[in-house]
Amino acid sequence: MSVAIIGGTGLTSLEGLEITRREVVRTPYGEPSSPLIHGCFRGYDVIFLARHGYGHNIPPHKVNYRANIWALRHLGATHVVAVAAVGGIGEPYGPRRIVIPDQIIDYTHSRRCTFFEQDLSHVTHIDFTYPYDAGLRDRLKAAAEKAGVDFVDGGTYGATQGPRLETAAEIERMRRDGCHLVGMTGMPEAALAREAELAYAHCAVVANWAAGHCGQIVSMDEIKEHLYYGMESVRQLLGRLPAPDRAVP
Ligand code: HPA
Repeated sequence: MSVAIIGGTGLTSLEGLEITRREVVRTPYGEPSSPLIHGCFRGYDVIFLARHGYGHNIPPHKVNYRANIWALRHLGATHVVAVAAVGGIGEPYGPRRIVIPDQIIDYTHSRRCTFFEQDLSHVTHIDFTYPYDAGLRDRLKAAAEKAGVDFVDGGTYGATQGPRLETAAEIERMRRDGCHLVGMTGMPEAALAREAELAYAHCAVVANWAAGHCGQIVSMDEIKEHLYYGMESVRQLLGRLPAPDRAVP
């Protein structure tokens, strides 16, 4: 079994990863966001992929999600921890909070969202009732506890198209829909992982209050600062992630 980590905004490299090799993977869907990095992180083997490229130059709507997931599976990953910066919609989802969400609402559009669209012998529908892998969520929670990282267990991730941030009215609608978090990269990544039969879970870091909070506008400087501290917690958590073939104590 093999763990892959997809790093998002604020985690384009994994400090402490002992890199053994970099691999450029060609896929039937085009180029992944970046070469894939094989290495050892705090005692377990990982494959690391920077979702937005190492120069952080690929915006959320341009990420080649199909190539990324295909490449991870091709290299033998079985479990994918997707790290993502998000906006928080109300308490307890405030800045710097780590969240392991349990549901998704998809507001994205015009993205290549399936592997099942060409040369089909039959139409394929995947079950997506529970979009995140329960076992991997448990491992993330156990790792957070071991690392002493405060986290929120559960929450609904609303995936928006971006790259602009949302209006206050859009966030108000998302709140009414039941969203607790807003981000731009969670879909179709999670659905593609399910299609590829990879166990997938999100480790979300709240970078800011979502639009409209207390009548304020979203400050990029604040996002940067919260992400800096939030990603340090993520690194601590990932450092205690038991590899999938090791028992959770
Ligand atoms: N909205 C969408 N995506 C985000 C946000 C946000 O407020 N913060 C970080 N990623």
